[in-house]
Amino acid sequence: MGRWKHQDQFHRAAATFKQRFERPPRFAAVAPGRVNLIGDHTDYNDGFVLPLAIERQTLVVADRRRDRTVRLASTAKAELARFENSSSPPLAPSHPQWANYVKGVMAGCLTAGLHAGGFDGLVDSTVPVGAGLSSSAALEVAAATLIEQMCNCKLDPPAKALLCQKAEHDFAGVPCGIMDQFIAVMARAGHAMLLDCRSRQVKMVDLTDPSVSILIVNSQVHHDLAEGQYADRRLTCHRAAKTLGLKALRDADMGMLTDSGLDPTSLRRARHVISENQRTREAAAAMEAGDWRHLGTLMDRSHDSLRDDFEVSCDELDLLVDLAHRQDGVYGARMTGGGFGGCTVNLVHSDRIDPISNQIHSQYRKQTGIEPTIFATRPAEGARGL
Ligand code: GLA
Repeated sequence: MGRWKHQDQFHRAAATFKQRFERPPRFAAVAPGRVNLIGDHTDYNDGFVLPLAIERQTLVVADRRRDRTVRLASTAKAELARFENSSSPPLAPSHPQWANYVKGVMAGCLTAGLHAGGFDGLVDSTVPVGAGLSSSAALEVAAATLIEQMCNCKLDPPAKALLCQKAEHDFAGVPCGIMDQFIAVMARAGHAMLLDCRSRQVKMVDLTDPSVSILIVNSQVHHDLAEGQYADRRLTCHRAAKTLGLKALRDADMGMLTDSGLDPTSLRRARHVISENQRTREAAAAMEAGDWRHLGTLMDRSHDSLRDDFEVSCDELDLLVDLAHRQDGVYGARMTGGGFGGCTVNLVHSDRIDPISNQIHSQYRKQTGIEPTIFATRPAEGARGL
């Protein structure tokens, strides 16, 4: 089924490419979106995260040109992006905005010595945009993988992820951490990935037990305050670490918060990061032991902490978590990613996927008037050339 879907996407993209550029593509690369099981707002505090790749992915197909021009099309956008793949003048963000993720990656590749020359490319994605499932990292990492293929050269995986993160910082203006790009590059099918965001050490944790499933519920809301608030949280955390005399909040413990001189808000932010790091490591151990009940409890606590101490949830996400808790067969439920909208991630008993989805769907629609989208996923593979 997964394979079939994948081929279907490739055929669709190849046909559209041929229509637009009047020849078939000769290169193709894919990268997945991600869902974070636990460990949110910890990556930029040098802490721990536990994401997995989802069965939704971004595909880029391409063929070379004889000049240095890049023409980029997307199955989701009408405009064609056009620019020169050259370091003088240096590549800079411009219009259309969606192409900036690719452009930023190309700038990073040129700096790393990967000169792909000109090409025509087409993007097709099944990762929902603006839903907290890292559609931007999927595009960046798919683009980097395509350039690797065209240059017949492989970047070191962590360097590749960091190059993509830099593209997001410099070309999209989002000061994200390293989680999304690392999982898109390194994911392994059937595994979640425990990442130490300081040492960048990765540990793959088996998640193939057929009796449990990951259910993703998209609230379909995206609150405008999300980006400013993300930068604000990041700054507050860095200041709090400085006040505590630490390199990052990763190094803090609860004892340090007493008489710390932190203002009440910073104290709550720090408390989230400290407790979330503990929960994330504990969650990886629970997953290894197949202790789904405990993993679920940790996810529930994570949501409470993100809602109350870090204040990045919203009414719709809280409602989805609440509705999940009322169903039989749900081990745990929480918001996932940056927050202020997007998705919840639910750990559920596989036999109960349909009744749980139906109940959450109808109750959420009834109470908000919004139609949520719901899908189950197995942990998918990371980026690769096709
Ligand atoms: C966004 C960022 C990540 C991470 C999460 C919160 O997805 O891109 O780096 O900080 O928010 O965990």
